[in-house]
Amino acid sequence: MNDKELVAHQALQYVSENMIVGLGTGSTANFFIDALAKRNKEEKLNVRAVSSSVVSMIKAKEAGLPLLSIDQIKEIDLYIDGADEITPDLTLLKGRGYDLVREKLLARAARKFIVIADESKIVKNIGDNFPVPSEVHPFAWELVKNVLMKKGTGDIRINAAKDGYAITSCGNFVLDFNFAEKSSENLNNLLSLTPGIVEHGIFYNLAHGALISHNGNVREIWRS
Ligand code: 5RP
Repeated sequence: MNDKELVAHQALQYVSENMIVGLGTGSTANFFIDALAKRNKEEKLNVRAVSSSVVSMIKAKEAGLPLLSIDQIKEIDLYIDGADEITPDLTLLKGRGYDLVREKLLARAARKFIVIADESKIVKNIGDNFPVPSEVHPFAWELVKNVLMKKGTGDIRINAAKDGYAITSCGNFVLDFNFAEKSSENLNNLLSLTPGIVEHGIFYNLAHGALISHNGNVREIWRS
């Protein structure tokens, strides 16, 4: 079992009967989806799941998890998702996938949000390893880019086929930016207050805990 799979299995201990569980997106979250589906079936837990992306919805369906759509929930018991970066105070950078809006809705709606990752995701400051993604209204992207250029450098995200702009499942574009600012609180405020940005990849004050794996061991970090 690799470190991503290990940490995904550890997260199962937070699942109990009749819960509504939010499913994250990415390779670590995929291990959790498979493990949860297996346990739900074997132990008849009556868990229902809500997906944070089209990709994780398809994955969950294939694994046999009963699904609710996001407009059927008011809150959820537990959200388990991966991240691209995690700081010691549990600020996260997410969004290499294209579903920031759903991911943040589930993070906010969860009574408990636990991020699962291997040690490579731990950073000192948000932005150390990846640019910060912002999902923007298509008609606003030039205006938003112009605002963000005063604080950093970046551009609109190109799609995987490299023949157009990347489009999120909500029909928006993505701007990926590197900022000189190191404070995640300040960056969170800047992006949250910029008109035209629908959602951004800084998850500030949202995760309650993290399970971090390294060489076969898992450590926990909890927000005080
Ligand atoms: C998607 C995400 C993912 O959770 C993040 O990219 C981590 O992916 P992986 O588990 O494959 O390393 O934020 O938007």
